[in-house]
Amino acid sequence: MNTQKKRVLSGIQPSGNLTIGNYIGALRQWVEEQEHYECYFCIVDLHAITVPQDPTALREKTREVAALYIASGLDPEKVTIFIQSHVTAHAELGWILTCLSPLGWLYRMTQFKDKAAKQQQESVGAGLLNYPALMAADILLYQAHAVPVGDDQRQHLEFTRDLAQRFNSLYGETFVIPEVMVPKAGARIMGLDNPTAKMSKSEESEYHAVYMLDSPAQVKKKIMRAVTDSLAEIGFSDDPERAGVNNLLTIYQALSGQTGDEVMQQFAGRGYGDLKKAVVEQVNSHLEPLQARYNQLIHEAGYLDGILARGAEKAAEMAEHTLNTVKERIGFLPNRSRR
Ligand code: TRP
Repeated sequence: MNTQKKRVLSGIQPSGNLTIGNYIGALRQWVEEQEHYECYFCIVDLHAITVPQDPTALREKTREVAALYIASGLDPEKVTIFIQSHVTAHAELGWILTCLSPLGWLYRMTQFKDKAAKQQQESVGAGLLNYPALMAADILLYQAHAVPVGDDQRQHLEFTRDLAQRFNSLYGETFVIPEVMVPKAGARIMGLDNPTAKMSKSEESEYHAVYMLDSPAQVKKKIMRAVTDSLAEIGFSDDPERAGVNNLLTIYQALSGQTGDEVMQQFAGRGYGDLKKAVVEQVNSHLEPLQARYNQLIHEAGYLDGILARGAEKAAEMAEHTLNTVKERIGFLPNRSRR
């Protein structure tokens, strides 16, 4: 029964280019989760504008991410796919939660510190600081039990839990306290050029990430150039010196569906060149059908828009229900107007 399924919510920002890290660490896991949970997956455009965005590019990226969700295997009949700004309850609850967020908690967030450090102090938008309150709204509006996110978002999840508890103790039990859902082992993909940092979708350097929409030739070029080491010995390892080879093995294992031991057996005594070629083949064999589906979707604007419209309607129903409870609890008068 649908009503007994636990709820899951997650989202990706429509900025930069989705990478095989997003695919392995998020999208592919969501595709599995859609069978067991009631899922809400959004494209978080309100979060994207916490740093400057070009309007044309933002529109394009938003459709691109939506199409990639579906091309990766998310089934719009099973899950609710929507654009965050289409459900106005996010901005509203985001504001209410901003007012409940202690500045001390917000200043402590490492993502804020990292992103703010990359900009001139005076030009850092206040949205970057308030980002976690909006993310908390995304999650709490749907009373999500579990939130699949990467390691780098753990602190924001803790923030969400703390804020939900704070609201509950001030105004009475209102929000489900969400759990972090950690991706399966090996789901953290690192930069090819710098394997001690997470693969990022907004990194400038050409050999950092494989994008989900890269051509087979680009995939090959990037992976063949991936940083390794001079030990010439294939093996999983948490030694930072060997992070490059570990990362290639991780990608291979995640995509091939083999166990770590099977992967080790396969590559025992072989060279890094062989490993890289095998990774190229795995990546390309996953991306090929996905890109074919993507190319269809992106040219069927009406179909995609229809999915997003239905998604927004379904999401709004749930979100507004929670938002109305919140407004009542904090003392807002009910709105009797017809809109
Ligand atoms: N902050 C997340 C990221 O950058 C994106 C995000 C926004 C999100 N709202 C969310 C993730 C709600 C999970 C749930 O990866």
